[in-house]
Amino acid sequence: MAIERGNPWQQLPAGALIAPSVLACDFAHAGAQIDAAVSGGADLLHLDVMDGHFVPNLSMGPEIVHSLRNYTNLPLDVHIMVTDPDYYAEKLSEAGADSITFHIEAAEDPKRLVDRLHERGIGAGVTLRPGTPAETLSEIIANVDLVLVMTVEPGYGGQFFMTEQLSKIAAISKRLSPGQRLEVDGGINVDTAARCAEAGADVFVAGSAIFRTNDISGSVAMLRQAVEVACQQ
Ligand code: DX5
Ligand code: ZN
Repeated sequence: MAIERGNPWQQLPAGALIAPSVLACDFAHAGAQIDAAVSGGADLLHLDVMDGHFVPNLSMGPEIVHSLRNYTNLPLDVHIMVTDPDYYAEKLSEAGADSITFHIEAAEDPKRLVDRLHERGIGAGVTLRPGTPAETLSEIIANVDLVLVMTVEPGYGGQFFMTEQLSKIAAISKRLSPGQRLEVDGGINVDTAARCAEAGADVFVAGSAIFRTNDISGSVAMLRQAVEVACQQ
């Protein structure tokens, strides 16, 4: 969905949102693959920034975020897996991120970082590794637009969904206020997305299940259908 620049979580409609993870694109054909995801009804683009320190992998940085900003009207949901979130949040915000989600394990002063993101007029999310307990978010949860529950160890696409994270999703869901979003990321496909929806998630990041298929637009539509059916039950 095309929205005005600014905090997307205050503009996107309530209900399930699908966020294709560009990390799983064939980067030689990223534009065409993103177009296909848009035509399937993608609500946001999920962009993974990794620094090779917080996670043992490198991915994209401000230049790619900037290129995608100029390419698409979809809100850019940027997930930063970095040891210095304050520095990269500023650079990525300047590059055109509409929302930035940082890891609680890396943030020196999470409240200050959330305030800075909001001062810049963009969305602020917080996330946690699978081994980090939900209670770690207690001090910050009321201030964020979104909590992202990682359902794989961050760093790579194509991993298997960690079923034990469902109880964390349910526990965090109960602590969120209306308007706050609960996102899941890692191993999300039609089956695991439905289980996460039942547990209370409403933003679904999927890389492999969208871009590593023969039908990118159809895969976005199938994910939406799966979570909408799960929410009605
Ligand atoms: C992993 C990233 C994910 C990744 C998901 O650290 O945060 O966004 O792209 O990929 P899949 O959907 O293939 O697990
Ligand atoms: Zn991610």
